Amino acid sequence: MKVAIVGLGSVGRGVAEMIAKKSLGLTVTGIADSTSGIINAGGIDLHDVLDVKHKTGSCGDKKISANEVIKKADYDALVEVTPTNATTGEPGLSYIKMAIGRKKHVVTSNKGPIALAYRDLKKRAEKNGVVLRHEATVGGAIPIFHMIEHGLAGNEILAIFGVLNGTCNFILTRMSDEGLTYEQALLEARQMGYAEADPTYDVQGIDAAIKLVILANTIWGNGVTLNDVNRTGIDLLTPDALRLAEDEGSTIRLIAEAIPKKGLLRVSPRIIEKSHPLVVEGTLNAITLETDMAKEITLIGRGAGSIETASAIIGDLLFIRDRYVERA
Ligand SMILES: NC(=O)c1ccc[n+]([C@@H]2O[C@H](COP(=O)([O-])OP(=O)(O)OC[C@H]3O[C@@H](n4cnc5c(N)ncnc54)[C@H](OP(=O)(O)O)[C@@H]3O)[C@@H](O)[C@H]2O)c1
Repeated sequence: MKVAIVGLGSVGRGVAEMIAKKSLGLTVTGIADSTSGIINAGGIDLHDVLDVKHKTGSCGDKKISANEVIKKADYDALVEVTPTNATTGEPGLSYIKMAIGRKKHVVTSNKGPIALAYRDLKKRAEKNGVVLRHEATVGGAIPIFHMIEHGLAGNEILAIFGVLNGTCNFILTRMSDEGLTYEQALLEARQMGYAEADPTYDVQGIDAAIKLVILANTIWGNGVTLNDVNRTGIDLLTPDALRLAEDEGSTIRLIAEAIPKKGLLRVSPRIIEKSHPLVVEGTLNAITLETDMAKEITLIGRGAGSIETASAIIGDLLFIRDRYVERA
């Protein structure tokens, strides 16, 4: 199957490295970053491109833009891995629409377009006879959507509970294990490269809320938005609050919850028993689903990382290859 990749940062590089390393039957015919692009219908040498990107900061020809790669390259599926913009969805939103308009399948890790416009994008894809997959947008390497779609096929999903932001979980783990203040734990998260210079998105629960919106819309198709999420971050938590929880054999985690029958869509710090499956350590993510037949199922895994996120993207690509491209 022929693939084009737009975005060659942490995730895009991970995808390119894994396609180069493993014999997956995937040929990359177009690549672009923010300033350059390459189109080669015969297949791009990924080792060369990764080397050039590493040395020069650009992946290819400055005269070729991401738009051109999406519009002109010969590919079956676009991997869209540009930065998340939760307000406009751009540039990913336009890129995804452009590829679907050309009747190309799309795989993305970009939360912006999926949180803002999932219903519209899905409709466009259906109309054009292609699919849009976004496993990597929630829980990094955790194959939550594959599990719901296949392993839990026929189940009604009644509720979701998740630890969806690794940065917050790291901060809470350090506050709880070492008695650090929020500010000390945040500083440590920054030093370890887990928190951005501006950590607002993470610590105020916005990132977790975006992922909750994506989960809810994908599972129930209920068209909820970020404004529908009742959200409290971890930035006002004190070591005393954690100590009190610890005294009772519990701890505090930032939990995202969706229970449609109760109209509940919430991200907030919650006191939970230490033995609860959602009490994961460090930057891990965890998602519990409550279903009518299987009852409770929890998946735990790495919520971010170049190769970990590439795992989810490659899973989506191979799903498309096996179901739609090689059967065509
Ligand atoms: N990193 C993770 O662990 C992770 C996990 C799950 C989901 N995600 C999501 O996956 C996406 C990619 O994440 P990342 O960590 O790889 O981000 P990143 O390291 O910032 O890389 C973004 C890439 O997109 C390119 N880009 C920026 N603007 C562009 C434009 N207008 N047209 C074409 N390319 C453009 C950048 O180009 P330059 O190289 O030229 O700057 C860069 O190559 C984001 O939406 C993120 O939220 C990331």
